[in-house]
Amino acid sequence: MPRLGVNIDHVATLRQARGGYEPDPVMAASMVQLAGADGIVVHLREDRRHIQDRDLMILRETVHLQLNLEMAAEEAIAKIAINVKPDLVTLVPERRQELTTEGGLGVAEHRDRIQAMVEFLHNGGIPVSLFIDPDLTQVKAASKVHADVIELHTGKYANTRRLSERDAELENLVQAAKLACKLGLRVSAGHGLNYQNIQPLKGIMEIEEYNIGHSIISRSVFVGLDRAVREMHDLIR
Ligand code: PXP
Repeated sequence: MPRLGVNIDHVATLRQARGGYEPDPVMAASMVQLAGADGIVVHLREDRRHIQDRDLMILRETVHLQLNLEMAAEEAIAKIAINVKPDLVTLVPERRQELTTEGGLGVAEHRDRIQAMVEFLHNGGIPVSLFIDPDLTQVKAASKVHADVIELHTGKYANTRRLSERDAELENLVQAAKLACKLGLRVSAGHGLNYQNIQPLKGIMEIEEYNIGHSIISRSVFVGLDRAVREMHDLIR
């Protein structure tokens, strides 16, 4: 059965809007765990726009499910990761001006740098996932740099407006997931997924885990975090 990792960055975004202490993402993580999610995901960005180092440290102590740390392939953040030891690191591209992670990693284009980072994290005992577009060249490159997992970027799929475009994006995800599985990579998916567009993905049996943030935290404003997580959890199973 597929697992649900809940990204709680937006709880920290709200806290940072006032620069105070509430709402606390640490408290959110506890509630997400109680609601039956399978893991917690946070992105420690270089500009620290939402999650802070303090959050990550406390989450490491309090999260007893999979703690998945998203980060850029940058040395300073990698050192923090080695120190904190999340259960999984997901390498993502990061540009300062973007609102959110806008595209997948160019593993094929930056193979040496990413391979060195994967090795560095492996030496610290941390498995590595690479956030990539559903592109067969990137899947092959992810395998060549010895990633453990790929997370397929579903942003393009989520943003399509026409059914024909959506079907084409869905097919890209299917082909990428199948190849990854054949190459011995574990497959996750995420970005832009919500309570509607998750349904067609359920046919892709290779996807073991969904990482979802925005739609769950948005719904929680109206129905509460517990219910928002449970509803998504029910949907993906
Ligand atoms: N997976 C990765 C690698 C991400 O960078 C993000 C966004 O932070 C997500 C999943 C979650 O995306 P969303 O917030 O759109 O659900």
